[in-house]
Parts: sequence; structure tokens; C-alpha cells
Amino acid sequence: MFLFKQPQNLAIDLGNNNTLIGDQSSLLFSQPSCLVINEDNNKVEAVGDKAYDMLEKVHHQLKSIKPLKGGVISDGESAKRMLKELVLKVNKPQLFNSSFNYLVSGVPYDTTSVEKRALRDALDQFKSRKTFLMNEPLAAALGMGLNIREAEGKLLIDIGGGITEVVVISLSGVVCFQSTKTAGDQLDENIRDYFRKEFNMAIGLKTAELLKIKLGCVFAPFANPNEKLNVLGKDLVEGIPMKREITERELCHVLNKSIENIEECIQLTLEKCPPELAADIYQKGIYVTGGTALLKGMKERLTQAFKLPVTIAPDALLSVGKGISQVLVAPEKYKPILF
Ligand SMILES: Nc1ncnc2c1ncn2[C@@H]1O[C@H](COP(=O)(O)OP(=O)(O)OP(=O)(O)O)[C@@H](O)[C@H]1O
Ligand SMILES: [Mg+2]
Repeated sequence: MFLFKQPQNLAIDLGNNNTLIGDQSSLLFSQPSCLVINEDNNKVEAVGDKAYDMLEKVHHQLKSIKPLKGGVISDGESAKRMLKELVLKVNKPQLFNSSFNYLVSGVPYDTTSVEKRALRDALDQFKSRKTFLMNEPLAAALGMGLNIREAEGKLLIDIGGGITEVVVISLSGVVCFQSTKTAGDQLDENIRDYFRKEFNMAIGLKTAELLKIKLGCVFAPFANPNEKLNVLGKDLVEGIPMKREITERELCHVLNKSIENIEECIQLTLEKCPPELAADIYQKGIYVTGGTALLKGMKERLTQAFKLPVTIAPDALLSVGKGISQVLVAPEKYKPILF
């Protein structure tokens, strides 16, 4: 008996920190965008969660790689290998060998043609009838349930791991935008640098990230001086392991400069925004997504800074992936925003 197998669609959000894979009905999978290569035999030792666990802990035969920086591919070959392994993980070998009908991947709005080419190269290893890119801020807006087709200005901010993008959307297009590489990774570096300068203490970026997620706060009135955590690292003078306490209030101070950069990016976008669309934004407010939007006090800080209503996506880590999945339900309808 022959069974006819319907070709599948594939949605990819190849993020600086997390890669999401889905089809037209749902998101299937989200894993960290990293891999570990064994330099002896050039084999992929681990990808996704397993590779993230190994990050900053490998011996000299193994190489940990994050193939994206600033939201775009910085190591094309590694990105390609990572994506192949992640797709295999989702649906076993048959998915990699099968032919997709539509394959749609997100790409930041502010990317060069060379960066887009690198993404296309990574996607071309999959057999698909049609491969399209779409701008991540538009995908994020769809994923947040916004109607991007109407003639109404919407200010969307995607604060991811490598890039923050601020766009004003109307009639399925981007009217004005601004981006900055200040995003989650930068905040982790701010924390690491603070420990080095203030306490002569070296901490790993994974420790800094965990600290940011558990104790990070960006709105000073919410930063509780009694909330604290112990941080483990290494004494830079003595060279021995050490422990130090940090409070939520201190961390709020450490993150402040970078959050100001993001606010500046929003301000510049608003300045470029045509008045009719500015009027819409005044009524509807600001939509914020991306993992870094989940920092404690983000809503209150932006509300205070811009005197506008602020909506944080409840599943901020998934907005782009969800938006691409939605496009796969009726790709013909979304043709104007696919390229
Ligand atoms: N609860 C949380 N609080 C604060 N930050 C968080 C939280 N959860 C995740 N993050 C941060 O969000 C970032 C990842 O977000 P996201 O998955 O949206 O980025 P990405 O899509 O991989 O990156 P990019 O959009 O820049 O390509 C990381 O820096 C991570 O530390
Ligand atoms: Mg993203």
C-alpha cells in the first residue's frame, strides 16, 4: 500500500540566542542557538540545549560556537550545521530528507544583503518548493495578534539577544525604524564587566545571564535592596574560586546604561514617525517583545519614559516563531511581506 505524504511547511526563527522551529499549526521546538564541534574529527558533538550546557566548560578538543552575533549569522558554516542538526532533532531524518512545500525564515529588518545571503545559504540545504524570508518585526507583530495590514501605525519593539529593533508598521510594511546591538547579550556583558571592575571577580557569561533573568530589574522603584543572590566566580587577584552577593538594586544600576540606549533607539524612531501614525501610536501605545522584554519593570520603565501605554507580549520569546507559523497557514495571503 502506498501512502501519500503531504509535503510539510517549515517555520524557522534563527535567533541570536534561541532557534525556534515550527510548522503551520504550531511551534515544535525552541533551543539555544549554539553548537559544540569536536576539533579532532570535525564532528558536531552537541547542539541546542546540550551545547548550551557545555558552553564555557569545554576542554581543548571541543569548540563551543554561537554562530550568530548581533542578531545575524557571523559564522556561516557553523550556522548551517547547527540548523541541520536542530531540524533533524525536531522530526528525525525524514524531515531533513523530505521536501517542504513552503519554508519561511525570519530575518532582522536592519540587515545587509550579505547577511541575508548567509541566511539563504544556511536555508538552501533544505529541499523546499519555495523558500522565503520575512522581516522579524512583522512576524513578531503577527505573533502578538496584531493586524499589520490596516492603515494604522503600530510601534513594535523586539528586544532579543543580539539586536533590538524598533519599527513603526502600517499597511503591512515598515514606515520607519531604528536598531541597536544593545540587547540581552550586551546586558550579560555589562554584568560580567561590573564584577570584574568592582570586585576583581571573573564570572562567566552564562552566570551573568542567569543572574539577569533571576534578579534583573530595569525600573529603579521596583529594585528591592533586600532581594539578593550569591554569585560564584573566580578571584582575579588570588586566582581562586570565590563568592559574592549582589542585590537587585545594584543590578538595576548596572543595567541602566544599556536600557537608556534602547530608550534612545525608541525616541529616534518616534522622531522619524509621520504625524498621522504618531497619533495612532498615542492611542494604542507600544508593543514590546523578545526575551529581554521580560525583564522586571520593563513595562513600567517604558510607560514612564514615553507616557504611552505599553503592552509586553506574554510569550515574548515566541512571538516571531508564532508569526511565521501563522504565515504558513496561508502563504499566498502574506505574499507581499515575503521575499
Ligand atoms: N525572563 C527573562 N528575563 C530577562 N531576560 C530574558 C528572560 N528570558 C530570556 N531572556 C533573555 O532574552 C534573550 C533571548 O531572547 P530571544 O529569544 O527573543 O532572542 P533571539 O531571538 O535569540 O535574539 P535576536 O532576536 O537578537 O536574534 C537572551 O538575552 C536572554 O537572556
Ligand atoms: Mg529574535
